[in-house]
Amino acid sequence: MKVDVLIIGAGAAGLMCAITAGQRGRDVLVVDHANKVGKKILMSGGGRCNFTNLGVTPGCYLSANPHFAKSALARYTPWDFIAMVEKHRIAYHEKELGQLFCDESSKLIVRMLMDECAQAGVRVEANCGVDRVRKTDEGFSVHTARGEVHAQSLVVATGGLSIPSMGATGLGYELARQFGHNVLPTRAGLAPLTLSGKHQERYEDLAGVALPMVEARVGKRSFRAGMLFTHRGISGPAILQISSYWQPGDDLRIDLLPDMDAGAWLQAQRGSRPAAELKNVLADALPRRLAQRLCELWFDSRPMRQYREAELAAIGGQLHDWPIVASGTEGYRTAEVTLGGVDTDGLSSSTMQSKLTPGLFFIGEVVDVTGWLGGYNFQWAWASGHAAGEVV
Ligand code: FDA
Repeated sequence: MKVDVLIIGAGAAGLMCAITAGQRGRDVLVVDHANKVGKKILMSGGGRCNFTNLGVTPGCYLSANPHFAKSALARYTPWDFIAMVEKHRIAYHEKELGQLFCDESSKLIVRMLMDECAQAGVRVEANCGVDRVRKTDEGFSVHTARGEVHAQSLVVATGGLSIPSMGATGLGYELARQFGHNVLPTRAGLAPLTLSGKHQERYEDLAGVALPMVEARVGKRSFRAGMLFTHRGISGPAILQISSYWQPGDDLRIDLLPDMDAGAWLQAQRGSRPAAELKNVLADALPRRLAQRLCELWFDSRPMRQYREAELAAIGGQLHDWPIVASGTEGYRTAEVTLGGVDTDGLSSSTMQSKLTPGLFFIGEVVDVTGWLGGYNFQWAWASGHAAGEVV
């Protein structure tokens, strides 16, 4: 079979690239080894797909080259995707912090992309694995489950390694290496952190305890959002966000009460409730079980009048700068994204085309561009897919 463009991977980036290229009149085939297309879209956002973020800026992405994403993001903005969503009359809402979700189901986003593909004359084949890619004089020859496909342009949109049970493979990285590209080390991003040994024992029975707002910090990077204790460690949006910036050995600090001056508040409580025990006072600002555990481990729990001013100031300081020794992340099994990947040095930032092999493109999560939690990763998939789709 001969096509103009073969796209490997019918996820967010691959389908957007296919639509853009199909609308230009290119003959496009998308193949995916999974039994269904867009599986990650379907499971995203708790089934409602956080499809973009109104606050997208290049600073919301991690990459060895922080400038790489700028061009594609500027040329396909959240508003471009919102226009498509509105054209298909999909109801959506802003949850918080610019995060846009479907009112009903992420199925509507997959249906929209498939309808757009059909209108643009794009063929999409699920259950179609790829096992060999060769460069030819005319382009590429790709051995697929449906036979040999000859294509002028080959787009690798195979995503990252997260959630292998959803079809993630390392094929994109293998193809990059086959064509001489550097692949930066990959690791799980937007993942819960694990604790071990005494650090785990201290907190494991707090599993299920949630804090609506903390500030998690690694170095100069910090995120304010919720946090949750799990059986193995800590999770919640603030932890998922900071996990992308954390590496084993890094100093992780949590401000448990970022919206108040804890020292001043404790002094005031000592004045107004001198007989109250510290653990009960803290339980007004923190989940009760956590307040009790912090007292058992560090602060003791005496009537407030028995704490000296300096002691309360020190406790306040600890509440704002709580060190937590993580042992690792929960890994690709639960990570939302994969950090690292195809080195952007080998790609054009305006087209995603290989600088080494003309006609070869890498888009979406397989590339070393990883967004924050909150719709940023889909926006990169749409934007990089669109950038390649304009030229394939
Ligand atoms: P994607 O993974 O979507 O697609 C890759 C495709 O390639 C898959 O269909 C796969 O089957 C196929 N493939 C892989 N190997 C292959 C092979 N060897 N042969 C053929 N096909 C192959 N982001 C966001 O912005 N908002 C959100 O709400 C969420 N929510 C979310 C929840 C969960 C649980 C996860 C795991 C991830 C998210 N994300 C997210 C991240 C987001 O899903 C992700 O960044 C994008 O789907 C990446 O799009 P891609 O098209 O690059 O890869």
